[in-house]
Amino acid sequence: MKKILYLSITALTLSLSACYYDTEEELYPNSFGGNKDTASVTYSATIAPMLAANCTSCHTAGGNSPDLTTYANVFANKDRVKARAVDGNPSPMPSSGLMSLTNRNALAAWIAAGAPKN
Ligand code: HEC
Repeated sequence: MKKILYLSITALTLSLSACYYDTEEELYPNSFGGNKDTASVTYSATIAPMLAANCTSCHTAGGNSPDLTTYANVFANKDRVKARAVDGNPSPMPSSGLMSLTNRNALAAWIAAGAPKN
């Protein structure tokens, strides 16, 4: 009896975590292909497209500050970008709600690595 209970709890846990993954990819189509390997994050392939999809509708030269359309500007503002878009501090960016956890992890990893131009 105990064994059956244990097995059904395990099965339930596994099926719940599987659902969570499916849902995240559907909810956040901009999650860089669902790639959770932060070691492969680069500015050109990951960060620039992420900012283009989530930020530069507002943050352009002549739009809301900071302009996030060039590497130099993103680098210069990396601490503020991390505060707002990773930590939601003092309020989240995008203001409509934080990006997916996958995107935030990628952005945090890239900034922690020194925000390299790669
Ligand atoms: C719909 C428009 C819009 C989008 C999309 C948006 N922002 Fe913002 N952002 C604003 C506005 C307006 C402000 C100024 C008000 C505020 O600070 O909340 C701002 C403020 C900021 C600031 C603080 C600037 C300062 O003076 O300290 C940062 C950093 C920032 N945004 C980063 C981002 C990042 C990164 C993204 C994408 C992940 C993003 N924003 C998406 C409109 C936007």
